[in-house]
Amino acid sequence: MTPSAERPHDPIDISSFAFWARPPDERERSFAELRRDRPLSWHRPAETELLPNPDDPGFWAIVTHADIVAVSRDAETFGSGQEYGGVMLEDVPEDVLEAAHSILAMDAPRHNRSRRVISSVFTPRRVRRIEEQIREQARIIVDDLLAAPGETDFVTAVSARLPMWTISQMIGIPEERRQEVADAANAMVGWNDPDYVGDGDPMGVLLDALMTLHTASFALSAARREEPADDLMTALVQAEVDGVALTDEEIAAFFVLLCVAGNDTTRQTASHAVLALARNPEQRRRLVEDFDGRIAGAVEEFVRWASPVLTFRRTARRDGEIRGQRIAEGEKVVLFYHSGNRDEQAFDAPEVFDISRDPNPQIGFGGGGPHFCLGSHLARMQLNSLFGELLTRVPDLAVGEPEYLAGNFINGIKRLPVTVPATGS
Ligand code: HEM
Repeated sequence: MTPSAERPHDPIDISSFAFWARPPDERERSFAELRRDRPLSWHRPAETELLPNPDDPGFWAIVTHADIVAVSRDAETFGSGQEYGGVMLEDVPEDVLEAAHSILAMDAPRHNRSRRVISSVFTPRRVRRIEEQIREQARIIVDDLLAAPGETDFVTAVSARLPMWTISQMIGIPEERRQEVADAANAMVGWNDPDYVGDGDPMGVLLDALMTLHTASFALSAARREEPADDLMTALVQAEVDGVALTDEEIAAFFVLLCVAGNDTTRQTASHAVLALARNPEQRRRLVEDFDGRIAGAVEEFVRWASPVLTFRRTARRDGEIRGQRIAEGEKVVLFYHSGNRDEQAFDAPEVFDISRDPNPQIGFGGGGPHFCLGSHLARMQLNSLFGELLTRVPDLAVGEPEYLAGNFINGIKRLPVTVPATGS
């Protein structure tokens, strides 16, 4: 077998900043070619300013639906732990992984234990209560939208509001800190985009955001130890793994993960979905015709279409095999979820936005396995409530051209101009 350092890199360059600054449709053409001609391909390391590593030989690109599912479910072979550098396409310093990625960058048995504690605080009662509040909050967001007819930015006015409100409400973040926390959570995934980095450096943006989130978490965990409340932070400070309580640092890392994982993903899905419905008016009409009957299927298609998380990485913990190719211990494999969600072998006419797609085995929440999204139920619930309000009360929303976020992690829409008609209900 060719040693990884000598293996030629694929001619399609999916590792450059320039590639990830192109619009999603253009990038998809490259992934369609890879799926068709070279479903397993070897690439040079992702360009990065975070932790450039001259000894990094590159990574395997996993671009088909079947392979993403297989790798996600084989955590014995393909690990996520900090000792392998975690789950981002590019290397991230270990202290950042520890401080920000929590259970995402853990393998069994530590992952099982921690995920069990964390799942245990998402009690059915807590989830049911937040669901009722989400419906109410979705109504308020659309009230506010209708109160100011004319041109506005959909991301700020709608998409960004519900996910951050939900997370803040569940964790118990005080009102006056919510905006600061939301901005820091956005910066955590936007450090590849010039809008966020400005004149600063990406590592500086990341560390500043991390500091803000940790400070907010420490303040809140201290407050809840002092005076418990009925929220997730109280449950976390009281929770135990094998009789041992979580430390403030562990809680803060989970706080960061929740703020980032629970915020940007649902927000991006809402923006992509409103755009897709505007560009496919017959789909929108079908959904409005029988909202209750069709929304569950539509939400699956929203997530497939948006694929808000573009990539997560795994690293071979032992020698493995994909498509007959030996994957040597230590080699990186990168899951390209958006590519799996456009795979012609898994979906009929994957390039068509179709809310009635059945079955719809979308892998936007992951390919299954131990790290499958912990918030998928909540995300579906938020999208259901938001579009219920939006489609029935603002049927004539005019949607303009999106401005996309650059980067290989989040399939983001930074701004989306919309025009709200003066006549809503
Ligand atoms: C449309 C919205 C969302 C999408 C597309 C999404 C996507 C994902 C993906 C792809 C993963 C990794 C799966 C894997 O490695 O197999 C993940 C993990 C995770 N998600 Fe989500 N997510 C969404 C919403 C949420 C929400 C609302 C929350 C929290 C309230 C959340 C919390 C988490 C957590 C805690 C993990 C880590 C699980 C683990 O490592 O065990 N997500 N999500």
